[in-house]
Amino acid sequence: MSAVFNFTFVPWFRSVAPYIHTHRGKTFVVGIAGEAIAAGKLPSIAQDLALIQSMGVKVVLVHGFRPQVNEQLRAKGHEARYSHGMRITDEVALDCAQEAAGQLRYEIEAAFSQGLPNTPMAGSTVRILSGNFITARPVGVVDGVDFQHSGLVRKVDATGIRRALDGGSMVLLSPFGFSPTGEAFNLAMEEVATSVAVSIQADKLIFLTEVPGVAMDPGQPVSEDNPIDTELPLDVARKWLAQLSPPQQPTDTAFYLQHCVKACEGGVERNHILPFSVDGALLLEIYVHDGIGTMVIDEKLESVREAGVDDIGGILQLIEPFERDGTLVKRSRTEIERDIHQYTVVEHDGVIFGCAALYPYPEARTAEMAALTVSPQSQGQGDGEKLLKRIEHRARAIGLDSIFVLTTRTMHWFIKRGFQPVSPDWLPEARKKKYNWDRKSQVLVKKLG
Ligand SMILES: CC(C)(COP(=O)(O)OP(=O)(O)OC[C@H]1O[C@@H](n2cnc3c(N)ncnc32)[C@H](O)[C@@H]1OP(=O)(O)O)[C@@H](O)C(=O)NCCC(=O)NCCS
Repeated sequence: MSAVFNFTFVPWFRSVAPYIHTHRGKTFVVGIAGEAIAAGKLPSIAQDLALIQSMGVKVVLVHGFRPQVNEQLRAKGHEARYSHGMRITDEVALDCAQEAAGQLRYEIEAAFSQGLPNTPMAGSTVRILSGNFITARPVGVVDGVDFQHSGLVRKVDATGIRRALDGGSMVLLSPFGFSPTGEAFNLAMEEVATSVAVSIQADKLIFLTEVPGVAMDPGQPVSEDNPIDTELPLDVARKWLAQLSPPQQPTDTAFYLQHCVKACEGGVERNHILPFSVDGALLLEIYVHDGIGTMVIDEKLESVREAGVDDIGGILQLIEPFERDGTLVKRSRTEIERDIHQYTVVEHDGVIFGCAALYPYPEARTAEMAALTVSPQSQGQGDGEKLLKRIEHRARAIGLDSIFVLTTRTMHWFIKRGFQPVSPDWLPEARKKKYNWDRKSQVLVKKLG
């Protein structure tokens, strides 16, 4: 084994440890689009899920089957019919859906049963459990369109699912439900996953999809100037949904977003849209700080928000002790009053517990994050991280490529969160003029992916 390997592997493995600890015992509902299976991604997704489960995460897997059902329909010379963004399931389509679901279940169970030596599945034991956990009701007739055997979730057997998870099994659900009369209904994978996540109060809902996530400007295509928004606060996601046209197909931005918002409103704190085209997307999202794809997040009771004039007193009180001991540069009341709209604050029950300010330098496509502070009694609970995320979000929203900080004592906190040290010469000209060479602050930059 080369010495270089030790130096790269050990720090890398240790850097993953906090995420392993955090997620142990948590419940994730993972919805896989049928397109992912059609694209041959099942073996690698199964490997990743087996690994995630072995690290103590309880997994409910819901598979989609849109392309598989369409293929069966084509083979029978039938056309797939949709309305209002939903399949119309006639007798033939119901047959096709049942056949496709049966076939996919075999394939999924087979993928989780592999264990050849020298493969990532060696030694893994994943017990898959399926069952009649979903009660459905018909969609019925909408605007004169009869959806026949297409259904909606009426009830989820949360106790049954939880019992299976607690017993160590992975729960596998097909997008089917049964009415109390024993009739089968074809459901949408996304609706099943969302309803299950809400009813079992999962910690995460994850969609592995054909889309890369939600762009910063969701009305425009993803590009270098319009990258994926990695973290979307619930209030912003709601705003986008109100502006976007109603989704007709899964590739429409509002399609997965509407389910994430619904789950978030139903108490699922973190909801992800990930591209299955990226190998290891699940691992990258769960065990790496910045992740990929988009996460719609409910920042507990909207505790992080932009500041207003009423917050000036609270901010002054918060930062004053850190100015006194030299951790922060002194700012006058007038300065804070003038810049109050640059500030973001964390508030609990009307008290300001944290703040940070964003000063853009648009000519250099960067911005300074200044005055990041969390009150001593509230430190270590993730508020600093929340503030950083919100500041990053604000910077991306105005089209900036990076943010930077000047610090004398908190280098490691920033480095752990993706910042890199640079020379003060890197600073935008206007900021360089104000740089205090005596204070010898370290300049750290974070690129906004
Ligand atoms: C830096 C600061 C904002 C972090 O806020 P927070 O809410 O405690 O941060 P989080 O809860 O998201 O993160 C806590 C983690 O950061 C670590 N941490 C806190 N201060 C740190 C520092 N100065 N250097 C390195 N790590 C630090 C904690 O040990 C904890 O680590 P753990 O998760 O491994 O236990 C807060 O400590 C603070 O206000 N410090 C004083 C002001 C300051 O230095 N601001 C930066 C000016 S540029």
